[in-house]
Amino acid sequence: MSGEEALEAQLGEREYYRPPAQFVGQANATDPEIYDRFEDFPTGFEEWAELLDWDEYWDEPFDGSEPPFFKWFVGGKLNASYNCIDRHLDERANQTALLWESEDSEEVRRIAYQDLYREVNELAAALRELGVEEDDIVTLHLPMVPALPITMLALARIGAPHSQVFAGFSADALATRIDDAGSDVVVTIDGYYRRGELLHHKQKADQAVESADHDVDNVLVWTRHGPEDLHEDASWEDGRDIFIEDLVAEHEGDRIQPVSRDAEDPLFLMYTSGTTGRPKGCQHRTGGYLTWAAGTSRNVLDIKPEDTYWCAADIGWITGHSYIVYGPLALGTTSLMREGAPDTPHKGIIWEIAERYDVDIFHTSPTAVRMFMKWGEDIPAGYDFDFRHLTTVGEPIQPEAWKWYYEHIGHGDAVIVDTWWQTETGGHLITNLPALQDMKPGSAGVAVPGIKANVYGPAGEPVAPESGQAGDLVIERPWPGMLQTVYGDPERFIETYWSQFSDTNSDDWRDWVYCPEDGAVYEEDGYFRILGRLDDVMNVAGHRIGTMELESAVAQVPEVAEAAVAARQDDMKGEVPDVYVIPREGIDEEVDIPAKAVAAIEEEIGAFARPNAVIVVDELPKTRSGKIMRRLLENISNDENLGNTDTLRDPSVPEQIRQQVHGD
Ligand code: WT7
Repeated sequence: MSGEEALEAQLGEREYYRPPAQFVGQANATDPEIYDRFEDFPTGFEEWAELLDWDEYWDEPFDGSEPPFFKWFVGGKLNASYNCIDRHLDERANQTALLWESEDSEEVRRIAYQDLYREVNELAAALRELGVEEDDIVTLHLPMVPALPITMLALARIGAPHSQVFAGFSADALATRIDDAGSDVVVTIDGYYRRGELLHHKQKADQAVESADHDVDNVLVWTRHGPEDLHEDASWEDGRDIFIEDLVAEHEGDRIQPVSRDAEDPLFLMYTSGTTGRPKGCQHRTGGYLTWAAGTSRNVLDIKPEDTYWCAADIGWITGHSYIVYGPLALGTTSLMREGAPDTPHKGIIWEIAERYDVDIFHTSPTAVRMFMKWGEDIPAGYDFDFRHLTTVGEPIQPEAWKWYYEHIGHGDAVIVDTWWQTETGGHLITNLPALQDMKPGSAGVAVPGIKANVYGPAGEPVAPESGQAGDLVIERPWPGMLQTVYGDPERFIETYWSQFSDTNSDDWRDWVYCPEDGAVYEEDGYFRILGRLDDVMNVAGHRIGTMELESAVAQVPEVAEAAVAARQDDMKGEVPDVYVIPREGIDEEVDIPAKAVAAIEEEIGAFARPNAVIVVDELPKTRSGKIMRRLLENISNDENLGNTDTLRDPSVPEQIRQQVHGD
């Protein structure tokens, strides 16, 4: 089935589902007038800012005088750590803030709000004594252990932005980010668990610090089991390396006054892949970001303080920042986090945990849903869990997977909420407010209150919804959760997100249109159907991987002359990379080029970006001017019609590769 046929088949079976009455009866957002209130730009957004505690109120909700460098809640002051911890102490000091589960042990950690308060304060005191100052960017390379949110909140407390790098990233990838952020301090851990294996971790920071251009003063090391277990292959440099346990021991009982940050002061960086070159450090501000994380957590995720809420993402990506840490904790709920794989120790573990803690809201990716579906409905049927709300994020969810989820996990009485957003947007932009719209499997939903979304054709003209045509998804008006800039590269910020459809000479914010680089259909009922990336970025199991990054990793292999990456559609992961390589002439035939290519990707990026296949070819399809036609490689990977190849330098090349990949 071609992409278009698949789309039509999907369209044919579109239907609506009413939100279950039990859900509507208790939902946070039940008043449809919220859309009208938020249309009142920019004051409508103040309703979500009011969910936070401000040290000082803002003078203006919005300053659009220097587009696209918009300012939110100008003049306001607040602290994110205070909002996520201190302000809950009066009412819920003993309530669990973070509930931590690990595949490795029976041990569970229940960190009450007052424990979180103590741990965050002690660490903040220790960091400050070490010399971390307001506005120093600290790079973290931490897995899914409580140390990660504790470190983020301790840094937020002293006004030092964090830049957390997903633990699956390699030493090289970590080094690039340390350099870009100019971090003097890096925080890591000895090791962590995945699929029953203890993964050694500190040596990645050792190597990264070694290869980074920037001089790192300190590597702070959390321990998974205790300092005596530091692995042999990790190095230790006295003076530079410090166990956090030792550091914090000197600050027992210390309390640190949360630094009152300007609403516009950065809270964190989150690096993301782009079309070209090095990853971009998306810089998020304190006031607008926290407003958006809290507002959407309340109205889209329907989180209440008494809930047990579980987002199964990794805090190393934006989903975990906004919807494990900042949003849920700002609302004072119990946020569950888990270290380990969803099938370890067994395939029912997710549902076993949901039953054990009576989880109310569960948040995961369509890739995970497809996996649960493959494992079969008998597995969840063995557990007694009862969700009222199920969220998906990261990729389109096929109606078939949606329905399975609705029936076998939601039992027909939970809402299913598809949420479209990006690292750059800070939080949800397209999704239903679940008590207010019908669910429509396969459509991400409508624009969030205050968000002006549209779909444009190539010349920047809106595509009429009744045409059913696809185009570029765009956001026509600023919102508080948006990134401030690309760290250290304002030009790239403009070029990447704004240049396509904005009048970049204008100083009127109304002339600026944000372009997320996603294809979409704006349906007549006001719902958006998201089709996928329009740039050279793949969506692998909900993670963004730039084809350029993969290609330049493979190009490091000395035996490789040229490499091109194509996205192959995958039933489980959405997309997976296929790498096509031309070997250099005269190389030793014994050399295992595919193995070397895979190793290069693992070293440059990380094992999570491992390709589906590496195909060694004699030639790549090229235009007469020598440009590689990746689209044809994509057709080959997906066994689709090659179409007319006459304009190629050598029109026979695609067919040769096709035969090599698929046989005759
Ligand atoms: C890209 C952003 C949003 C946090 C996780 C990923 C794709 C995201 C959906 C959705 C279809 C989606 C888009 C987007 N995407 N959500 N509900 N339906 N596609 O964050 O790594 O910044 O990736 O993920 O292509 O641009 P990210």
